[in-house]
Amino acid sequence: MKTILITGGAGFIGSHVVRLFVKKYPDYKIVNLDKLTYAGNLANLRDVEPSSNYVFEKADITDAETIASMFARYRFDGVIHLAAESHVDRSISNPMEFIMTNIVGTVNLLNAARETWKDNREGKRFYHISTDEVFGSLGVEGKFVETTPYDPRSPYSASKASSDHLVRAYFHTFHLPVVLSNCSNNYGPYQFPEKLIPLFIHNIRNNKPLPVYGKGENVRDWLYVEDHARAIDLIFHKGRVGETYNIGGDNEWQNISLIKKLCEIMDRKLARPEGESQKLITYVKDRAGHDLRYAIDAGKIEKELGWKPSIKFTEGFEATVDWYLENEEWLNNVTSGDYQKYYEEQYVKRG
Ligand code: NAD
Ligand code: DAU
Repeated sequence: MKTILITGGAGFIGSHVVRLFVKKYPDYKIVNLDKLTYAGNLANLRDVEPSSNYVFEKADITDAETIASMFARYRFDGVIHLAAESHVDRSISNPMEFIMTNIVGTVNLLNAARETWKDNREGKRFYHISTDEVFGSLGVEGKFVETTPYDPRSPYSASKASSDHLVRAYFHTFHLPVVLSNCSNNYGPYQFPEKLIPLFIHNIRNNKPLPVYGKGENVRDWLYVEDHARAIDLIFHKGRVGETYNIGGDNEWQNISLIKKLCEIMDRKLARPEGESQKLITYVKDRAGHDLRYAIDAGKIEKELGWKPSIKFTEGFEATVDWYLENEEWLNNVTSGDYQKYYEEQYVKRG
């Protein structure tokens, strides 16, 4: 039986990865290690909890001693590292949390894996999940490939870039068997409603303004979260050691077009008159250092591992809206308490 550590498994993408692995690999023991920050929620994994091959450990990856003791206890065969501070706006208001979790936390995991596997690295694997934001911002043309030079522009992307460099350094210097991937924007169930799509679904539902940054002209490449989880499964098992794979949806949307599409869907689902939700669109001050455009060339993972997005955007988007409308209790739970304070700070002051 293999024992696999998944960090950040109570978050958005992590919960989909945990679910996939627990169900698909009954002969793996899956250890989900998560600090349960505001973004980590065990309600994302209720269906997985009773499984005999699933264990949850509440721990902070910035705590080197605890991380070392987890590795000593479980002797992990593989690591899939997703734990991170992940929201760009929060990184602008509080960069230090991002430095600690994304950089120091990653190094703690690298050190623990290096120590645990020092006598035998055979079949071991440290998989670091990263983002396309490390490549910076594109103009109207071109796509990011794996060799695009890093040019991060927010404290979030700079912290992720830094962790990517460290993971590669441990491969070159210490021969740690690593693999990495850089993915575009994910959407789907269980995403914390500070990110564009769930936030706007929540606001439309509650007749609250839709705060569009700047002119809404920024472009993102959207991928359904389960397709990302499938890519992670493939890369973890079949990706070449030391390599990086770009993952993307081949699905670019200007924010304002995506938002108008969402408004249309919401009018239909909520039986509101056509055009009603669009009236909530409110242009607000732009995000500082707002990257104009991201787009991924996923040719390498397609060619080497046969991965392609399987869920069409129109279907995935509708299914996502349905999920949030059907899971109002989940949304209400995560938007109470501290979230209210965060929302006030981000938006009410921003005007
Ligand atoms: P998320 O914010 O939803 O979840 C992050 C998880 O990490 C939470 O469960 C949180 O509790 C946990 N965590 C945070 N700090 C921790 C710490 N110090 N110790 C232990 N656990 C901690 O994030 P997400 O959107 O699911 O992103 C997961 C990973 O994928 C991140 O590394 C992110 O950079 C990367 N990524 C995200 C996207 C996206 O569109 N969301 C795209 C590409 C890459
Ligand atoms: O590209 C991958 C990245 O995608 C991940 O690494 C990050 O973890 C993830 O948060 C996401 O980053 P973005 O900044 O692109 O996602 P966000 O949902 O915050 O914003 C998407 C776009 O919408 C972006 O151009 C900013 C804009 N936006 C966002 C919010 C929250 C608004 O116009 N208004 C908003 O209220």
